[in-house]
Amino acid sequence: MWNPKSQSFLIISLLCMSALSTWTAASNGGGKPLLAAVTKDASTSLYTAPLKDGRPLVLDLSSPAISLPCDAKKGKGTVTTTLSANATDGKNPLFPVSFPAVATCATPPPAGAAVVGVAGLAPSGRSSFPAQVARTQKVANKMALCLPSDGKTTSGDSVGVAIFGGGPLFFIPPDRGDFTAMLAGTARLHGFHGSPGYFVSATGITVEQKQAVGGPLAVGLSSTIPYTALRPDVYGPLVKAWDQAASGPSFPWMQRVAAVAPFERCYNSTKLAVSLSRLGYGVPQIDVALEGGASFLVVGGNSMVQVDADTACLGFVRSGKGGQAPAAIIGGFQLENRLLVIDEDKKQLGFTTFLSAIGLSCSNFNFTHAA
Ligand SMILES: *[C@@H]1O[C@H](CO)[C@@H](O)[C@H](O)[C@H]1NC(C)=O
Ligand SMILES: *[C@@H]1O[C@H](CO)[C@@H](O)[C@H](O)[C@H]1NC(C)=O
Ligand SMILES: *[C@@H]1O[C@H](CO)[C@@H](O)[C@H](O)[C@H]1NC(C)=O
Repeated sequence: MWNPKSQSFLIISLLCMSALSTWTAASNGGGKPLLAAVTKDASTSLYTAPLKDGRPLVLDLSSPAISLPCDAKKGKGTVTTTLSANATDGKNPLFPVSFPAVATCATPPPAGAAVVGVAGLAPSGRSSFPAQVARTQKVANKMALCLPSDGKTTSGDSVGVAIFGGGPLFFIPPDRGDFTAMLAGTARLHGFHGSPGYFVSATGITVEQKQAVGGPLAVGLSSTIPYTALRPDVYGPLVKAWDQAASGPSFPWMQRVAAVAPFERCYNSTKLAVSLSRLGYGVPQIDVALEGGASFLVVGGNSMVQVDADTACLGFVRSGKGGQAPAAIIGGFQLENRLLVIDEDKKQLGFTTFLSAIGLSCSNFNFTHAA
């Protein structure tokens, strides 16, 4: 006999079971953030993480999607793929997690020897890597990113760390505390004429506490350009203020030498060496004053690029773009060795101090599995 009650009971229990199994699948990571080791590719200066079958994807702060090379047979469009990382408690990797992700297909595949695709980190409702981690792992749409240097100019074995889904994040030794809660500053994230990526507003840029450029200035973040690019009307006054400070009595060790492209201000680093400290070479401090009062400080360790054994150059370049372009795009070299905490839900950028200043680098994460 057909019994509507037992039928609906059956349906309800089936629904419950499927809800339970989706819940189990979703919390496969136990609602835990995911960890990735970040490497700087020496030839391309791109930062990658081994998220696709252990093979690297480029981390791109300006791309809002995951992209993989097109399958010649299936043509263009979106594909479902499986990505993997380790769950983390913020101190160590805990256990491996694989999860489905939607990727768009891109031709040609990105440059770089072993790179198999792009993990777009830019803000997006659903398609970015952090948004897909947030959805599948039931964690916050928040990432902590510590880009490593190439190991040539700064210490460290050039493996940085990224945690997707929020903090905490501890460096070795862990008793120094959660660095996502030790921010030197925060600023509100803005859009910029619909461009993908993260932008903040600056009230000005100073060199040795003297105003070089007035605001408001739109400042973007990029992990795919190697050095900070300044619009010509910003680059000119900044370099002028830099020259003034550099030729002043506080920096007797700064001796100009021939420029090495793409840089215009280069110095004899044999002479600079006397000023070397945890902050890098003793050179004028550049300070990007952000809306809300925080300062993004650029000390020698983030400003001076060692181009050869006895030459170090100011690592800022003039961008080709004028007019509607952002005033500045902070590039990889100036983002390295500090922890960036990008909270998409709160629309907030947070950053720590330059880690070398406190005897750390982005390579101080413990990638040994927790016992
Ligand atoms: C997980 O962590 C271990 C130890 O660091 C590492 O060997 C492994 O490649 C990681 N797995 C993934 C998927 O990243
Ligand atoms: C840099 O300084 C060192 C030490 O004073 C000197 O020997 C060398 O010739 C200088 N190099 C240049 C290119 O000026
Ligand atoms: C790294 O983590 C492992 C596992 O918890 C631990 O045994 C080891 O002592 C840690 N290494 C350092 C240098 O703290």
